[in-house]
Amino acid sequence: MQTRTAKLIEIFNIGEERSGVFDLPSKLWPSPGQYLPCQRIQTKPDVLPTSLFPLISPLDSLALGPIPDSWLPGDRITFLPPQGNGYTLPPTARRVGLLALSLSPAQVLTLAHPALAQDADVSLFFDAHENQSSLLNHVPSAVEVVPLSALPETLSWLDFLAVEATIPDLEPLSALLPSSHLTFEGQIRIRTAMPCRGMGECGVCGIRTHHGWRMVCSDGPVFPLQEVLHVAG
Ligand code: FES
Repeated sequence: MQTRTAKLIEIFNIGEERSGVFDLPSKLWPSPGQYLPCQRIQTKPDVLPTSLFPLISPLDSLALGPIPDSWLPGDRITFLPPQGNGYTLPPTARRVGLLALSLSPAQVLTLAHPALAQDADVSLFFDAHENQSSLLNHVPSAVEVVPLSALPETLSWLDFLAVEATIPDLEPLSALLPSSHLTFEGQIRIRTAMPCRGMGECGVCGIRTHHGWRMVCSDGPVFPLQEVLHVAG
């Protein structure tokens, strides 16, 4: 696979996510849920690759994150083309929910503009913590922000739910989303360490699903919601 290089132009915070803009041509922008495996070019290179995901952006350019604390504007990176399965927003979805349980919703919010563009009503289920309240400045005004506690009573309203979660989030998420209530299409992006650049070789990103073990880096990182919920531990 061809490796390319890019320069980190600018760094800023979106809520608690350290984000950056690179001089990446738009044809190499990852779609929502996909990622770029990257490594900073230094005299002393980073040992492990970094996976950068698209974030909701206040700019016209694509914002990627999370940017490691040691990276600075002007740094150059090598990267591979966008990898993994991203979210697929059903074109007929008119009632779209976005949910990030224990995480910042800055990544799942990248679906807000595509959903609004197909005339969907969009709800973000989100309880802003103190250090996340500035993120609300980046939420499009047409998106309704509703507390997480409203999710159970809203499930029957949804056509589509996009979730951003860690592996430990799956148990509380299963409790929130009883399988008998999943009358909508759901997709979930699993956020976990992916140290082998998506080669599917190290096994670190393994996740148990209803179809056996899957690798988040190569089989995901977006999975059908029903595939990972209510899986016996
Ligand atoms: S990151 Fe190594 S198998 Fe997924």
